[in-house]
Amino acid sequence: MGLTPGVVHVAYGDCDHCAYGSTYPGCGIACVSYIEDVIFRRYVAPEEVAAIFVEPILGEGGYIVPPLEFHRRLRELASKYGILFVADEVQSGMGRTGRMFAIEHWRVVPDVITIAKGVASGMPLGATVASSRIMSWKPGSHGSTFGGNPVSCAAALETIALLENGLVENAARMGEYIMHRLEPIADRFRHIGRISGKGLMIGIEILRNKRSRKPYPALRDRIVEACFWKGLLILPCGPSSVRFVPPLVIGEREADIALSIFEDVLSHLEGKRGTR
Ligand SMILES: Cc1ncc(COP(=O)(O)O)c(C=O)c1O
Repeated sequence: MGLTPGVVHVAYGDCDHCAYGSTYPGCGIACVSYIEDVIFRRYVAPEEVAAIFVEPILGEGGYIVPPLEFHRRLRELASKYGILFVADEVQSGMGRTGRMFAIEHWRVVPDVITIAKGVASGMPLGATVASSRIMSWKPGSHGSTFGGNPVSCAAALETIALLENGLVENAARMGEYIMHRLEPIADRFRHIGRISGKGLMIGIEILRNKRSRKPYPALRDRIVEACFWKGLLILPCGPSSVRFVPPLVIGEREADIALSIFEDVLSHLEGKRGTR
């Protein structure tokens, strides 16, 4: 709750760390029921709510993939009360997860999608995409100084063409390849917990050990730094995870190099003999 005035924050559908202490699937998707049963009754009336914003896959929060029912129930809730369902695809959109938009994995159709980051392959551009039902504004009714930069827009058109002509499929295929290669690594190293994500949006949780499941952010930070010095850029996310978000053009050779650096770093930090 709190943070930005006028915005109510609720817990994400993170089944491994359920904020309500429930267990999926017996929980009845408590994280969504809570919005209707508690938030709408005690904190804000549903007719006061303009939109529900949600990331299809939680990005900065730890690359968490919610269960199938999560987005579907949120969509139903939004429709029931005439609230807009906004999918924040700034991180997960534009092919990243092996579909053009991550929300497609849940077969949910949002009213609005926000996109940025990958949309113009690094050129500065963000966009709000909405169904024609609600995007009925006259041209010029919304603008900003640097909005619609022609060079960025040209980069975005080229990016979309590349995505439609193979890069979305490559993200799906290479995501599966990397996930498959990560399985034995996760088995071998005691500090690796949940591996989550879709396509080329992959999160790896770093734990004190598999049994206690306690986060180990200090080790996570050491892994990120050690990978950096060996030429592999990975980023932290969530309380204690690292993320693999390679460019969508990645092939098996580059993935193998990245995974071998990652494995070497883990071997070194765990004091084990490397396997490669
Ligand atoms: C999911 C998500 N939404 C929004 C943003 C902010 O995007 P922008 O800087 O384009 O406003 C970020 C930035 O990291 C993000 O990850």
